[in-house]
Amino acid sequence: MDYKKLIAEKLQIEGVSQQELYELITVPPNTEMGDYALPCFKFAKIMRKSPVMIAEALKNEFVTDETVCEVSAVNGYLNFKIDKTAFVSRTLEKIFAEGACYGASNEGQGKTVCIDYSSINIAKPFHIGHLSTTVLGGALYRILSFLGYRAVGINHLGDYGTQFGKLISAYKRWGVKEEIERGGIRALNELYVRFHREAEEHPEYEDEARAYFKKIEQGDEECLKLFHWFKELTLKDVEKIYELLDIHFDSYAGESFYSDKMQPIVDELREKGLLVESRGAQVVDLEEYGMSPCIILKSDGSSLYATRDMAAADYRKKTYDFDKCLYVVAYQQNLHFKQFFKVLELMGKEWAKDLVHVAYGMVSLEEGTMSTRKGNVVFLEDVINKCIEKAYTIIDEKNPDLENKEEAAKKVGVGAVIFGALYNSKIKDIVFSYDKVLNFDGETSVYVQYTCARANSVLQKGGAFGDYQIPELCAAEIELAKALSVFPNTVKEAAEKYEPSYIARFAVDVAQKFNKFYFDCKILSAEEENVKNFRLALTQATKQTLTNAFKLLGIGIPEKM
Ligand code: ARG
Repeated sequence: MDYKKLIAEKLQIEGVSQQELYELITVPPNTEMGDYALPCFKFAKIMRKSPVMIAEALKNEFVTDETVCEVSAVNGYLNFKIDKTAFVSRTLEKIFAEGACYGASNEGQGKTVCIDYSSINIAKPFHIGHLSTTVLGGALYRILSFLGYRAVGINHLGDYGTQFGKLISAYKRWGVKEEIERGGIRALNELYVRFHREAEEHPEYEDEARAYFKKIEQGDEECLKLFHWFKELTLKDVEKIYELLDIHFDSYAGESFYSDKMQPIVDELREKGLLVESRGAQVVDLEEYGMSPCIILKSDGSSLYATRDMAAADYRKKTYDFDKCLYVVAYQQNLHFKQFFKVLELMGKEWAKDLVHVAYGMVSLEEGTMSTRKGNVVFLEDVINKCIEKAYTIIDEKNPDLENKEEAAKKVGVGAVIFGALYNSKIKDIVFSYDKVLNFDGETSVYVQYTCARANSVLQKGGAFGDYQIPELCAAEIELAKALSVFPNTVKEAAEKYEPSYIARFAVDVAQKFNKFYFDCKILSAEEENVKNFRLALTQATKQTLTNAFKLLGIGIPEKM
């Protein structure tokens, strides 16, 4: 029962959508005036009337009912009063009736969304730069599934290019099988870094690397075997991280999967007269659209990242018949996506409009950034483990007698990493700070988890509670119920804007309102049995809603903390 939504639905202004109305409705600072208000200034232009007259006219049209029970027009604002008893009662009823499905819907029924995320590079470190794409993509996967869409998670592996020739060259010169088996990605990365260091003095290594890559492409047995082995080692290594972050994929078809699927695209481009030669390369000119040319084939005839992405998009359309295909990739690649989306459009693929680049900002650690080539890279696994360790220390200090401290520390530590990456609007650059993400009193996951543990403890002490009537309500109770009631719409908006941060912020807001309620109202020691039951129900509803929200973000909640 989302009251803003109810009000928006009861209003009709030509040229203004329900969603716009919904977003305009605010909560006035002073509840004397009303519980919700609609400022009418924005409509003055469309309706060619003063805001005061618009508010007056809207008021006269508005039909009140048992929930939105009063409406008034004041100084260009339309103010609404809500029957709180009915509101709180319906909110709780809905949460209990829907339980783990509270917030879900079937708006996506019959629709498919492909999500290209994480998309790591083989034999390269899974570093903190891959954190956002992994957790954003994972959250979008769960959010869209929750709304009834068929989500297809795709890890578009970076498993193509001369770097694999370099690795083979390095391995054959310096590699020891057992060490690589043991060291996984780290050992492979060391080989890669060493190759770059030594190739500075031995430029012939570069030629050798190119030759090895050619051999992979030509299907040379030994080279292919090494290549697959590197891939296997990498995937085995990252599996641990995916498990910790609760991330899953339906497909691991990476760049090399499209080696034999690019020719038809190139042929079609040629047939349609879109390819032109430029310094020996085959390109699609995009000057008209204010972009540099999209290179399709290099002068030696080899393909590019964009060529493989075009083949991949075409393959996904044919295989999954998607309604949307999302690419959760850093904004550094903005141009790349704009270019190949445009080229597909020029080819006449009407579905090119359904390709969406979900761009996000950079994550750096407080200590500084990283580079794969020089080797001073921050492994995501190390960041996660450090967070778990720090969480353990804090929990141990606060509650040394807690059972399952490891289990709780894992949820808190992993949650801190995920939440740290999801809390801000995705396009913002973030500087990751251990102290900030693990602050018990901040806008953090641990704050929410701690609040949930508090709710849990109240519920355990309270035991099963009986029926209740909605008692006379205090401000903290109403505020909490209001916060809980917007969850379904929050999930919907998070999906529309590809912004899991909405859900993260929602959770913090609910937690803050619950804590206010917890300190303002006696729950277990309430004077009347009816009031106690009602407050326990409100506590239970809070726990349910926060659990649902955190599940969408991929964060677990410890029973006790
Ligand atoms: N592997 C690439 C990188 O790490 C990201 C790939 C994103 N997906 C895509 N279809 N281009 O930069």
